[in-house]
Amino acid sequence: MTNVSSQARVPNLPPQKADDLQRSDLAAAEHDFPELGAVLRGGFELPAHALTELLELLGTKLFTRDPTLVHYVAWACKAEIFELAAARTAITIDDVCAHTCLNEAGADSLLGVLTALGLTTRSADSRYALTSIARDYFLRRSPFYLGDQFRSRGGAILPGYLRGQNRLWIKARRRLLGLLPAIRFGSKVRLRNQHARNLAACATAVRSGEFDCVRCLVDIAGGSGAFAIPLALSLPTERIVLTDLPQALNNIRRMLVEHGVEKRVELLGLNAFRYPWPIPSCDGIFIGNFLHSFDDATSSAICREAFERLSPGGKLWVHEMTWNPNKDGPLITALMHAGMRSAALGRQRTVQELTDILRSAGFVNPYARRSAGAYELVAASKP
Ligand SMILES: C[S@@+](CC[C@H](N)C(=O)[O-])C[C@H]1O[C@@H](n2cnc3c(N)ncnc32)[C@H](O)[C@@H]1O
Repeated sequence: MTNVSSQARVPNLPPQKADDLQRSDLAAAEHDFPELGAVLRGGFELPAHALTELLELLGTKLFTRDPTLVHYVAWACKAEIFELAAARTAITIDDVCAHTCLNEAGADSLLGVLTALGLTTRSADSRYALTSIARDYFLRRSPFYLGDQFRSRGGAILPGYLRGQNRLWIKARRRLLGLLPAIRFGSKVRLRNQHARNLAACATAVRSGEFDCVRCLVDIAGGSGAFAIPLALSLPTERIVLTDLPQALNNIRRMLVEHGVEKRVELLGLNAFRYPWPIPSCDGIFIGNFLHSFDDATSSAICREAFERLSPGGKLWVHEMTWNPNKDGPLITALMHAGMRSAALGRQRTVQELTDILRSAGFVNPYARRSAGAYELVAASKP
């Protein structure tokens, strides 16, 4: 464990210079920011392991109603994906849609999880083929076939993955949730769940050095404070503004108080789809685990609004679990992607796809750096 409090930095120093700080410099920093001293000393410790290591092992992404890995494999058996892949040398998502009960979201989700599990491979032209372990155990003609032994206990294939069925209802539900986000977000249970999922990666992102020079940082859809809290505990950023839906703010405030940062982090009620955002002039905007809920056009519009609100020279950071370039892993991203595809129009993306979205919004000089586990900070500047 590494104590966050031992890494206090003087504002606006480039990371490499700040790393050279001696004890006396840290004392001076605390002297200059006396109100921060206590907060920094009250900081928590970073975990020694990325949460991904644990969640991948358990086959969960830590949502309150996660299907397990066995569900995904059982659904693939039920939809006859293995038999279809064996009958053709390789299959595409379109093939699965045409010949099974799955729709595009279902085919994409299940093939993603199977590939991350090593049961299928994915080629550069998005064709999926069975691996030998899948041939051994998931083809009916194999003497070792055990596909019929897998049960998705209590879990029929998700309606959002099925062709035709309930399509109207699903569309109506998606539209309603999009129009009325208050139905879904802001409860204590949901915020605690987000916090558990995202704090370790966000705290590690804060410690990456990326945010050391930011004077005013606005966290869009900042939720439980998974990013704003470690930021306030670690760095003397002059102004930190956490925005979220207005009805979520009371519960978020409680979480800030628990960490003693309620005076450092300003709360601002904001619906990210109402433009212009009423945020202060800022040189940094952070958007974590939010774009994955939306399609590319919506994500691009959100980033465009961030671009408009940033001062020239300001930076946008997007923090998401990313696919590796061939979209065949890691498993935690495949699971998160399957979750996003079942519930909304969202998806996990590769660094390249996120970079393309930032560029489409006007940003320049994009780059990425891994924060923790499968999480990547994808950043770009406003000229
Ligand atoms: C998955 S959480 C991410 C929270 C945080 N950024 C993190 O990484 O832990 C998504 C957050 O978006 C907020 N949210 C959902 N729809 C929103 C909207 N239209 N405008 C602003 N915030 C929204 C939710 O209340 C929730 O706190």
